[in-house]
Amino acid sequence: MSDIRISVVIPTYKEVENIPLISEEIAASLADQNYEIIFVDDNSCDGSFDAVTGLADRIPARMIVRTEDRGLSTAVIRGIEEAKGKYVVVMDCDMSHPSSAILPMVETLESGKQDFMVGSRYVEGGSFDEHWGFFRLLNSKVATWLALPLCHVQDPMSGFFGFEREKFKTCAHLTPTGYKIGLEIMVKGDFNNPGEHPIHFKDREYGESKLSFKEQLLYLKHLRRLYSFKFPTASEFLQFGFVGGTGFVIDSLIYFALQFVFGLEHKVARAISFWPAATWNWFWNRTITFTDRKKSNRLGQWLAFLGTSLGGFAMNFGTYSMLTDYVPFFMENKFPALIIGVLVGMGFNFMVARVLVFRKLDQEMEKEERK
Ligand code: GDD
Ligand code: MN
Repeated sequence: MSDIRISVVIPTYKEVENIPLISEEIAASLADQNYEIIFVDDNSCDGSFDAVTGLADRIPARMIVRTEDRGLSTAVIRGIEEAKGKYVVVMDCDMSHPSSAILPMVETLESGKQDFMVGSRYVEGGSFDEHWGFFRLLNSKVATWLALPLCHVQDPMSGFFGFEREKFKTCAHLTPTGYKIGLEIMVKGDFNNPGEHPIHFKDREYGESKLSFKEQLLYLKHLRRLYSFKFPTASEFLQFGFVGGTGFVIDSLIYFALQFVFGLEHKVARAISFWPAATWNWFWNRTITFTDRKKSNRLGQWLAFLGTSLGGFAMNFGTYSMLTDYVPFFMENKFPALIIGVLVGMGFNFMVARVLVFRKLDQEMEKEERK
């Protein structure tokens, strides 16, 4: 066991101006501590490596240069894997995150009050530079709200966070897509009591931000994964419902088109429009809702799904008929009966689809797929 108390992990890409600045700032804040700084650089080739070597006789800093992998999240994971300290704190290199917050965050972890600490702009006492434009702020806020059900902190997007290194083992299959590695670790690891330390988030002076529009799209993808991880059945049901909703629109459009454009009789139209709509649902459930399930043979799965949908439709129609034929309330109020029918049919479809049509991967295959 090493007796390093704090490992500061800093992902870097083209941060040559900032490396000495952040190192000095950390050294000043952690002067009486046993700590290490680990930079994980993606081969910036801008003198970053020499900058760290130049400091290393005074400051316990080193740099890992990666040439094969790229990206912020995997760099952070690599740094944590190399860390030796009892606590790990991850932060940006660009001076946005104040080093003075490292020690208070670690002390809170040590007290046992909290098991994950986030350097936060959005709790009382936290702030950010004032010239953030309206859109930047809105963007950041919306991204934050979307993540709130996953973890109860005000600033889950923060790239400034810390935890006890032992706990890193509890993070199941990390599959970060994009930038939000702190959120990924907090959601997937065994952390029950995350807390926040207010910080002032300073905009960078040197170098450029690497957060692009593409990263923001990746964030949505990442969120979907985290929701599936945290609320597997509920999130499948929601996606199934969403796909079903779009299928309903297709169904109705075709149903009306066949009658009013092609002059077909309403029952014939009803009987035809079901098929393209059910096919649409099958395709999108295969692509979106049940991405993690077995990729069974298409034709067989499609037929099975159509069968299920017919079954669901029978339940739906049966419920509607029973209610409107025998229950006085629904004799008067047919539309609520229709809604109940739809829900019963959808519940039936959902159950059968997830058990029979989109089968679970076998344990072994599952491991392979997730690698
Ligand atoms: N190794 C490596 N590889 N490091 C990277 C990469 C990469 O591909 N991309 C960025 N970094 C490093 C940067 O050098 C910097 O130290 C840190 O990761 C953050 O990158 P910035 O480009 O400064 O990100 P940002 O300021 O737009 O975003 C920050 O704030 C967000 C919240 O507003 C980050 O902390 C985000 O994680 C955070 O969500
Ligand atoms: Mn930045």
